[in-house]
Amino acid sequence: MASTVAVHDEIKVALPQLKLLINNRWVASASGKTFATINPSTGEEICQVAEADAMDVDLAVQAARQAFEHGPWRKMPASERGRLLLRLADLIESHGNELARLEALDNGKPVSVATAVDVARTVACYRYFGGWADKIHGKTIPIDGDYLCYTRHEPVGVVGQIIPWNFPMLMMAWKLAPALATGNTILLKPAEQTPLSALRIGELILEAGFPEGVVNLLPGFGPTAGAAIARHMDIDKVAFTGSTEVGHLIMEASAKSNLKPVTLELGGKSPNIIFADVDLDEAVEGAHRGLFSNQGQSCCAGSRVFVEETMYEQFVEKSIVRARSRVVGDPFDPRTELGPLVDQSQFDTVMRYVESGRKEGATLACGGERIGSFGYFMQPTVFADVQDTMRIAAEEIFGPVMSIISFKNVDEVIARANHTKYGLAAAVWTRDIKKALAVSNGVRAGTVWVNCYNVMDTRAPFGGFKQSGIGRELGEYGLQQYTQVKSVIAKL
Ligand code: NAI
Ligand code: MG
Repeated sequence: MASTVAVHDEIKVALPQLKLLINNRWVASASGKTFATINPSTGEEICQVAEADAMDVDLAVQAARQAFEHGPWRKMPASERGRLLLRLADLIESHGNELARLEALDNGKPVSVATAVDVARTVACYRYFGGWADKIHGKTIPIDGDYLCYTRHEPVGVVGQIIPWNFPMLMMAWKLAPALATGNTILLKPAEQTPLSALRIGELILEAGFPEGVVNLLPGFGPTAGAAIARHMDIDKVAFTGSTEVGHLIMEASAKSNLKPVTLELGGKSPNIIFADVDLDEAVEGAHRGLFSNQGQSCCAGSRVFVEETMYEQFVEKSIVRARSRVVGDPFDPRTELGPLVDQSQFDTVMRYVESGRKEGATLACGGERIGSFGYFMQPTVFADVQDTMRIAAEEIFGPVMSIISFKNVDEVIARANHTKYGLAAAVWTRDIKKALAVSNGVRAGTVWVNCYNVMDTRAPFGGFKQSGIGRELGEYGLQQYTQVKSVIAKL
């Protein structure tokens, strides 16, 4: 532990190593450069962190390559790899309070959410994939002729992983856990807004006893360190979560370098479709949480709330009351439901969308203003009378802004729900099984929730149709992204 930061007089948060982790050693960046990570509750610098760039990426690739080709990692029994993951899960769990505070400090999310969602799901993810490590195997296939044919599921090799800031330690778990379970070696770049929990987990990775070079951590910026990973000739695969815009760049870099396979988990504009036969209060609460959780900074946020026209007015009224009652404030206060947005740039983007909604003629039903004079707090915001073509209904906002849209019938709402380049998630609320199944089957999205929202589980695959992504994370499907199949054919 390097030092601690006082958040309030009574709350102290311990800081981790603030360097790069390469080959199991904490090192300064080759350039000697550092960058500031900001506390979004105050807008002030928390500390300086070593800034990786292309040269550090090269060093980390060398370490990961060496570990993959010659280290103990691939030779050790698969069950031992699993045990390391389980040990890491235990360490994260026993340091859960500290990690949740670090996440609240660096990201701004309420510490209650960081505990119940980020830490809990992170632990579950490492445990789940730890359990898989010794259960990954191929098939024997009865091919024609006198041959033995079997398949092996081999690791892809050196994997580059680039993650966002909205669920920092959880996105790290989604990336590391399946890649480690399948025997790959890794370099991971946390988001520049939120490097701290990744560095603390790096310390726990060392404590768990992972061999040298298996996990390398490179805090730094996208266009420098991130781009160097995407175009590297000796990285065998890249996994990315973030904006659709950068997803395009990652794929382009792969095409222009070594055709490394990419998995992408990108943006969304998920429809949350509510029929008039539901319990109104339950649906209002479901839509509220589906959008405002994590300050609305969620790739699967239910940001297009389609409400059947016969219930539309009532639904809007109740949604306003609920949004107004949402407790905004200090992430360290246990009552807080909504913390600040992650940084100035995200705050400005969201405010620009509020402005565009007003200009394009939507009704600003509540919110829309900044709260306070420091940090990036804003009021929970609801727009009514939203049309599909308005920017607030078409583009990902990634903030606490709900758009409520009216619809008439099943076929119409499915067509409108699908009229987007995205396809990450969707939900339908109804008591009518026919409507529920028609929407579930008709909507082009990687996850569809029925009478619930944001129910995620490590065992259920997650990912996008269309420009919301390529490939699936989590569950058994998530493992396939980190193995390649080899056919062995032997003459008998
Ligand atoms: P971003 O896509 O720029 O950043 C995500 C990660 O990609 C970060 O680690 C960043 O350093 C890295 N990156 C950025 N440019 C890169 C490049 N050229 N090559 C390689 N890596 C690069 O997202 P940003 O700017 O933080 O947020 C912008 C918008 O993206 C948000 O408003 C939201 O709409 C969307 N987003 C979606 C997320 C999701 O969960 N799918 C997460 C974060 C943002
Ligand atoms: Mg920060």
